[in-house]
Amino acid sequence: MPDSWELLERECQNCRECALCQTRQNVVFGVGNPQAEIMLVGEGPGANEDEQGIPFVGRAGQFLDDMLSIIGLDRTMVYIANIVKCRPPGNRDPLNVEQDACIGYLYRQIALIQPKILVCLGRIAAMRFISEKFRITKEHGIWNDINGMRVMAMYHPSALLRDPGKRPETFDDLKSLQREIDRICEHTERKRPW
Ligand code: URA
Repeated sequence: MPDSWELLERECQNCRECALCQTRQNVVFGVGNPQAEIMLVGEGPGANEDEQGIPFVGRAGQFLDDMLSIIGLDRTMVYIANIVKCRPPGNRDPLNVEQDACIGYLYRQIALIQPKILVCLGRIAAMRFISEKFRITKEHGIWNDINGMRVMAMYHPSALLRDPGKRPETFDDLKSLQREIDRICEHTERKRPW
């Protein structure tokens, strides 16, 4: 049977593949446009996301929306998901066993969307998609060709809230993302404020 959003979402909602299911309030499946050419991947839900069942709705999410708006994007033009769909308690990094248990769902989302561009938000996503030894300080903003997608990592919005000194580099990464969108995306109509 071919995969479908309905099947995938139902499986995720019922998932008990790792211990995070015991402490979650909600599975945080993903949000945005299933036809998007651009996909953003964070690490895992925090407290607000767990409460609402939607990725990036807390402070980091507000900051992510601001980042997107700088290059004329909003949530209707991208798809946003996380490496793990349930909240790691106390906002710790998701463990490898948790990531391994969950990543298949994200791969299926990617297969359904077939994005042209995948942006890893932070080190955890970059270590999964780009390289196990990924160093975010050195390798953010660098484009990679992976499984037919253009893939790059930016600092996680939470890191940018903690350390505003990283924001100028992220502005450059956003401009690079903007250029890549204009170069290869076919139906993403960015709002152009200039
Ligand atoms: N941080 C993430 O990585 N993902 C979210 O959904 C929220 C915060």
